[in-house]
Amino acid sequence: MIISNFGAEQYCFFISAPKMTELTEPEVKLEALLGIINSSARQAIAEYKKTGHGVPSADATTFHPLDMATDTLALRKATRLLEGAYHQLSAILAPPQHTVMNFVFDYNWACTNVALRARIADVLEQHPEGLSVDRLAEAVNLDKSKTARILRALSLMGCFKEVERDVFTNTRLSLILKSANNTGCYAHFHSRDVSKYAGVLYETMIDQEFSRSHEVEKAPRVFACRKEGMEESFWEMIKKDDERRDIFHRGLLGHSEMMGTSAFLHQYHWDNVSSVVDVGSGIGAFSMPLAKMFPHLRITNHDLPEVMVQAQNAWEKDAPDALLDGRVKFVPNNFFEDIPVAGKDVYYLRHIIHNWPDAEATMILRNIRKAMGPNSVVLIHDCVLFHTFQEPGAGTTDGLSIAPEPMLPNFGTGSHRTYQIDLTMWFLLNSKERTLDELKIIAQVPYNSSLTRR
Ligand SMILES: C[S@@+](CC[C@H](N)C(=O)[O-])C[C@H]1O[C@@H](n2cnc3c(N)ncnc32)[C@H](O)[C@@H]1O
Repeated sequence: MIISNFGAEQYCFFISAPKMTELTEPEVKLEALLGIINSSARQAIAEYKKTGHGVPSADATTFHPLDMATDTLALRKATRLLEGAYHQLSAILAPPQHTVMNFVFDYNWACTNVALRARIADVLEQHPEGLSVDRLAEAVNLDKSKTARILRALSLMGCFKEVERDVFTNTRLSLILKSANNTGCYAHFHSRDVSKYAGVLYETMIDQEFSRSHEVEKAPRVFACRKEGMEESFWEMIKKDDERRDIFHRGLLGHSEMMGTSAFLHQYHWDNVSSVVDVGSGIGAFSMPLAKMFPHLRITNHDLPEVMVQAQNAWEKDAPDALLDGRVKFVPNNFFEDIPVAGKDVYYLRHIIHNWPDAEATMILRNIRKAMGPNSVVLIHDCVLFHTFQEPGAGTTDGLSIAPEPMLPNFGTGSHRTYQIDLTMWFLLNSKERTLDELKIIAQVPYNSSLTRR
């Protein structure tokens, strides 16, 4: 046993490994979690090394090539186990007061929002050797001691680094906060807007008008905006606000990077498909890499008119070749009112169904059905939620992964972002991520049902 004294606290480290036979049942579970942490971390290390660029370093000031890759399923699976198991382990071993207050003591979103809006990472990018907080604060026009506190809070998480007293540099994590970074845009949208809607959650749950409603018009966002005298829908709001719309749509490219959803480019037989309609394409977070990877595909992007203009600009800048021979089209289409272009092979909807309550989601699918030919398919690409208990048969017949015991079957905090996105959908649009069973119900679209959009 080694005992060391860090400041006021005593820490004890036991370094001899106990034999499994000497362990109680709770200890067996702890050992199993340690085993998962060990094996999943090794798997992640192996994935990085496979690229020939070694493993990322805590001191790195550039991205690792794998950070920008789309085919990272194996790394994602390893980190899902790693994150889930270490949180479960620390929640068992740390005092409960500590763990629960960690839920609440989390102002990283507010500090991140300051760093994003003040463009701190952009300024530090010009000073790879480090910049004093005095000069940094002057450059971004903020108070220096407050700026230093923000940077120290984020440095605890590995985002920015204090290389000398009051001198900071970027790190691989803070590069995400540069204004040109797509995931930074997604973080900007969440930390500025969605955090406000989350702040009124309890009020919406006890308000007579909002509490039992699952209509879009009764989302916490509407409650929060009403207090500020704004009544319009989210889509109307960003239609009028060019900056917010730009951040939102660039943020969707970041959403792909964060969730690794572009792995689907490698998981579907796109070689055997000739035509794709990206329904609610945004600026092409999926269809643009799809067009680049599979130049034989004829792609129709459908979205609201103002988004189609934004999409065309984005493609002219980032994928001009795909536009030359007319194989990519931008056709405004309101998926509640219009039928998509008819008879194509694939109708692809990524993060569309999760934006809408069941009635609206069904209406979108019904319009697509009217456009489908005999061999057309609809691909719904959304997160799938699990319950946190082990359901009989789950994972054996539905092709979904179940975590090894003693982890929660849904990987616990290894699925953190999925369950947070579910809450985001609620706060923003009174919608939700769904379980597989819920998605199957939505997919059984009655052809003649006559739903009208409120
Ligand atoms: C969450 S985004 C998903 C974008 C894209 N599929 C992706 O994966 O990045 C939802 C998209 O639905 C579009 N949208 C919202 N209402 C619409 C409507 N009534 N008709 C067509 N598109 C709509 C939005 O403009 C936005 O691009």
